[in-house]
Amino acid sequence: MRELQDAAAERKALVAGLLAVPASIAPRYFYDPVGCALFGAICELPEYYPTRTEAAIFERYRSEIVAAAGAGKQLVDLGAGDCRKAAAWIPWLSPRRYVAVDVAEGALAAALGQLAAAHPSIEVVGVLTDFMAGLDLQRMLRARPTTFFYPGSSIGNFLPDEADRFLRSIRRHCRVAEGSGLLIGVDTRKDPARIRAAYADAAGVTAAFNRNVLNHVNRVLGTRFDPAAFDHVARYDEDLGRVEMHLEARSVQTVQIEGIARSFEAGERIHTENSHKYAPPQFATMLDHAGFERVRCWQDAAGDFAVFYAQ
Ligand code: AVI
Repeated sequence: MRELQDAAAERKALVAGLLAVPASIAPRYFYDPVGCALFGAICELPEYYPTRTEAAIFERYRSEIVAAAGAGKQLVDLGAGDCRKAAAWIPWLSPRRYVAVDVAEGALAAALGQLAAAHPSIEVVGVLTDFMAGLDLQRMLRARPTTFFYPGSSIGNFLPDEADRFLRSIRRHCRVAEGSGLLIGVDTRKDPARIRAAYADAAGVTAAFNRNVLNHVNRVLGTRFDPAAFDHVARYDEDLGRVEMHLEARSVQTVQIEGIARSFEAGERIHTENSHKYAPPQFATMLDHAGFERVRCWQDAAGDFAVFYAQ
């Protein structure tokens, strides 16, 4: 496992986000082991349509996608998690080398061990890095034709200008080796009530996922946030086409952060996540602006989700 992270800089950014008004916590802090398990549970919720809709598109259009991406290349799994989504592609894409990239070690090490045992002919590499802060894998990828795999609409967790920078950096990586491309899943704009429900499920799993970020912050910074003192807030801004998740203090909360007493007023919010939704033509334009020349798109019949392959 290779680690490309700067722990001191990340801690500094976390503290700055909490002391700022309005406060924020980067979404990467959702993914401690409990958060990863809660995210797995979110993906199974009746209200959370993206995961199963994307899986259905992958299944239905598998051979067309393989024909577009080509087999036998290096597969780079961005935000690999437990590697389950990429593992389903391995028999089809037959990669020679599999590079799993994630911010959290979480399930990655165990999943990579299993994958390497099941596919002894594939070179398996794990990379720990926060690619939301910038992606530079050029040296590690050894100028080989590569399929970059970024499923789950995680691109939506970037602000649009960050998404543009990210897509441009993938395109730069693709230029290095002919035949490289990006296979990416994108959640689409649709009935706001359905989008809202996906982030405010009846069972309260997303609320637990959101509050758990404070447990993670407590461990990283030694703070004493009380997650139960914050309400889960998820709202969909139709104009911006994004869900915003916040934690809202129920009463005044004073927390010591690196020797500074930070008071959160009752009703004050900590912004924890944006999740942007894109109409397919809008996302195709983003790919175009980032320099991709050939773009294909597959969707489910209802148009709830879109999968793109771009070269
Ligand atoms: C990982 N990411 C694409 C999820 C999303 O939908 O933005 C994270 C999530 N947040 C709440 N529910 C799921």
